[in-house]
Amino acid sequence: MVGATADARRRGTTAGLPVVDLGQSESEVAQAIGRACRAYGFFYVTGHGIEEQLALRLQYLSRRFFGLPEAVKARYAMALGGSAWRGWFPLGGELTSGRPDWKEGLYLGTDLPANDPRVLANRPLHGRNILPGDDVLPGFAATIRAWMAAVEALGHRVLAAIALSLGLPADDFHARYTADPLVLFRIFQYPSVPVPAGVDAQHGVGEHTDYGLLTLLRQDDVGGLQVRLGDDWIEVPPVPRSFVCNIGDMLDRMTGGLYRSTPHRVHLNTSGRDRLSFPLFLDPSWDARIEPIRTPEIDDRAQRWDGANVHAFEGRYGDYVLAKVGKVFPQLREQVL
Ligand code: OGA
Ligand code: NI
Repeated sequence: MVGATADARRRGTTAGLPVVDLGQSESEVAQAIGRACRAYGFFYVTGHGIEEQLALRLQYLSRRFFGLPEAVKARYAMALGGSAWRGWFPLGGELTSGRPDWKEGLYLGTDLPANDPRVLANRPLHGRNILPGDDVLPGFAATIRAWMAAVEALGHRVLAAIALSLGLPADDFHARYTADPLVLFRIFQYPSVPVPAGVDAQHGVGEHTDYGLLTLLRQDDVGGLQVRLGDDWIEVPPVPRSFVCNIGDMLDRMTGGLYRSTPHRVHLNTSGRDRLSFPLFLDPSWDARIEPIRTPEIDDRAQRWDGANVHAFEGRYGDYVLAKVGKVFPQLREQVL
């Protein structure tokens, strides 16, 4: 039946991405992660030691945030953050792959005061977070701070394992790229509401790759994330207490495509329940110059979602990420750059 096949393709298969238990020995972890990076560019980690209570508190408070009246959320709108690119955006406000995503979100990052030299220098994507204080949503800011610190630390652990898996010293990425990392954190809600006529949204998030080194994502139990392997879409179903980790463009670039920054997307949510996800992006510092670890010989322009050849990129990470972010928020780009 053609219809059933098409539906199966849209939904994807559940081939089962690897689950790496961080409680294993260092070399077992590095081997398992290396295999996963080469085969999929995606894997789950468990045994990470981050308290489930903290995750549940973050989920609860995020749900309350998205449940605030639009007029209240508008006080934290992204436009107010200028080039720091922080704050709330409404449903349909981001355009991955040139189309509106059917999601609502809050953009966060390392919280830097106005007198930080990087903020004084007007460096894009750096600045203060914009979010409700304890008068509006008690505990939200502190929970986000605690979560970001824990997940960033986990990210450094996973990057150390990735370095080992490439035959590099465990602290190689840290020494070269992430001693002062660019850390972006996002909270997304994918509502289970139909897309109105006249809105050209086809996915929760359109097909894309992530920009930096490593993404660590906590998702609730609804599901919807999919990974593209060749012509197939593979489901990334919720695994309790896990993080989904995936490789970004810079690691793909450094390894000459050995570790793939795999395209992924989120399908439209028709589950009847709103879905929450929490990606944290652990990326090279703004000024880091990206250097290949292996000689790249690959031109992947034809296969990539954005028609770009990541292996042709040379320069500072900040220039790369800024060009990317400007594409998905065109109005904001015009306002601030
Ligand atoms: C992203 C992303 C997936 C999700 O933010 O880059 O791929 O499940 N998110 O929210
Ligand atoms: Ni992504």
